[in-house]
Amino acid sequence: MNWPDCSGAEEPLKPYRCKDGSFSLWSEEYGQAFHSNRGAIQEAQDTFVAPAGLERLAPGSTLRVLELCVGTGTNTAVVLEACQQRQLQLQWWGLELDPQPLQLALADQRFQQQWPNSILQALQERAATIHWGDARQTLRALQSQLAGRCDLVIHDAFSPGVCPQLWSQEFLGLVSQCLAPRGRLTTYCSAAAVRQSLLAHGLQLAGLKPHAGSARHQWSGGGSGGQRRSGQHWPRPTLRSGAARPRSALLDEL
Ligand SMILES: C[S@@+](CC[C@H](N)C(=O)[O-])C[C@H]1O[C@@H](n2cnc3c(N)ncnc32)[C@H](O)[C@@H]1O
Repeated sequence: MNWPDCSGAEEPLKPYRCKDGSFSLWSEEYGQAFHSNRGAIQEAQDTFVAPAGLERLAPGSTLRVLELCVGTGTNTAVVLEACQQRQLQLQWWGLELDPQPLQLALADQRFQQQWPNSILQALQERAATIHWGDARQTLRALQSQLAGRCDLVIHDAFSPGVCPQLWSQEFLGLVSQCLAPRGRLTTYCSAAAVRQSLLAHGLQLAGLKPHAGSARHQWSGGGSGGQRRSGQHWPRPTLRSGAARPRSALLDEL
């Protein structure tokens, strides 16, 4: 595929292995990891795909997914696998600012080995369709196409402390408008301001159960230099359960 020019990118991205052995990156620019320390694949499954409730869709039907911040493509690959397993057709819109994370991942032998050939090939095909640029602009440009159509929105930006523009009330409003009547938004972030914005945009909220080994509910404010998804502790969010209701958001509580 033709990658967009990223010669302007100055800040390094450092590959590393997560606890589950999966490939991830550390961003010097944001001072954050791309994935939870539990592991990139584990997180994609637990936080972004399992809560999507794909079992609601009959085999042969079409799943429409908006993925914000494709990064290494790990969430995309897990979605592709889930669709393959459930015999779902996938219509996918991927938004990303920087082509480097996906380039690094696809060139990494161990990343390649994480996936069956069919998934790797499907990921490469999807990569050719990514809407490159600042998601605030690319999503606006797609709004008439996406409004009210997405069964699943995956929101995996860096944390609000370092990437506030993708968690603003205005941006979350645009994102919420993309959801189909029973669509779900999944994200790792359960920050109070994010919950307030999602509620204000009419979404029902539900929290995910804590992961094994996670004694407390935590959320990382992601102050510069802070590692993503660790550190700051928050009281248990007072979320209304209602994941099965129209237009909902499922937020991880690490
Ligand atoms: C936490 S990482 C995403 C991890 C990714 N889901 C994965 O599985 O690798 C956040 C991503 O957001 C991208 N990003 C940062 N600012 C952005 C913006 N304004 N618009 C779109 N993408 C942005 C970064 O380039 C980075 O790839």
